[in-house]
Amino acid sequence: MSFEINGTPFSQEPRAGQCLRTFLRELGHFGVKKGCDAGDCGACTVLLDGEPVHSCLIPAFRAEGRAVTTIEGLGSDHGAHPMQQAFLDAQGFQCGFCTAGMILTCASLNQAQRTDLGSALKGNICRCTGYRAIEDALLGKNNVEESVEA
Ligand code: FES
Ligand code: FES
Repeated sequence: MSFEINGTPFSQEPRAGQCLRTFLRELGHFGVKKGCDAGDCGACTVLLDGEPVHSCLIPAFRAEGRAVTTIEGLGSDHGAHPMQQAFLDAQGFQCGFCTAGMILTCASLNQAQRTDLGSALKGNICRCTGYRAIEDALLGKNNVEESVEA
């Protein structure tokens, strides 16, 4: 199977019946988390041709000829992706287990979608319930500066 992963062409056959999440983790992309394993939590979110998907529900062979982006593929040698930086600025994480999936989903949203957080993040659950700071990240709020000033 040939596909693109984080901008780099790659070829490897998945095992029969293997889901995309397990396939990617076995390739070393440990930012793709194993959560519910049932399509409910979004911890395994990756972008498939730019669209967020729950990789635990996607057979690995479905990536054939497509572009997969994991959290390791955001940002560059020059620094964090703007959405990664927004999460840092807003302190939009607690334990961090949901964070990679949250950031990938948020990075895929257009401006109009960012105003409707409930709908935008319906596929991603934060078990720490840190939604206020995640919303702040989407709104570009800097909670680090505010806490220093306080
Ligand atoms: Fe895939 Fe929860 S592990 S949605
Ligand atoms: Fe802990 Fe979201 S920060 S699950």
